[in-house]
Amino acid sequence: MKKFITFEGIDGSGKSTQAKLLAGYLSDKGNKVFFTKEPGEGKLGEVIRTEILDRRDINIDLYAELCLFCADRAQHVRELILPKLRDGYTVICDRYYDSTLAYQGSGRGIDPDLVFRMAMASSLGVEPDITFFLSIPVEQALLRLKNRGGRNKMDEEPFEFHSRVNKGYRELIEKGISRIRVIEASASPDKIYSDIRRFFE
Ligand code: TYD
Repeated sequence: MKKFITFEGIDGSGKSTQAKLLAGYLSDKGNKVFFTKEPGEGKLGEVIRTEILDRRDINIDLYAELCLFCADRAQHVRELILPKLRDGYTVICDRYYDSTLAYQGSGRGIDPDLVFRMAMASSLGVEPDITFFLSIPVEQALLRLKNRGGRNKMDEEPFEFHSRVNKGYRELIEKGISRIRVIEASASPDKIYSDIRRFFE
């Protein structure tokens, strides 16, 4: 049984919807399921999320941003993910350290080795059993974002930024990391849901 499941993708890929659907499905099957997301869970996470994504009066330095995402994760793992895994929950997390590799590494252009080391350290050694990457053309994802309310600072980054993030994810996939499963996310939500569900049937 896969106990720690993460969802990844560029903004507007539809992964949050699918992560929640899977949480409902697994819980209906009788599993204890804990759904969570990054960044922003827990008391520290809430503060960090606001500082990185919502405050428009600070121009956050690239390295400060990297540190804040990693701080959010370390606290999230320590306070919530690890205890829930130990209590026998299946944990579904909307975004995890692959986001840091793609966004801060490729998107922001910070030295990939440094980002890798920080991202790994922030996970406290807790690795996902399976990661669903929702694959969608950048143009299509940005169109979805445009029609959505409540956009944050990251969502407002230009097309080139999101393309670099997408490229970062592609490079990860090309490494052939076995936990990463690519899901075609241009399809209808129902088709995407059934593609993901079959990993748990
Ligand atoms: P959020 O509103 O949670 O969006 P989404 O539904 O796309 O997950 O915003 C989180 C943003 O933070 C998203 O644009 C990805 C970005 N992010 C990073 O840049 N680095 C990270 O390590 C993480 C976890 C998220």
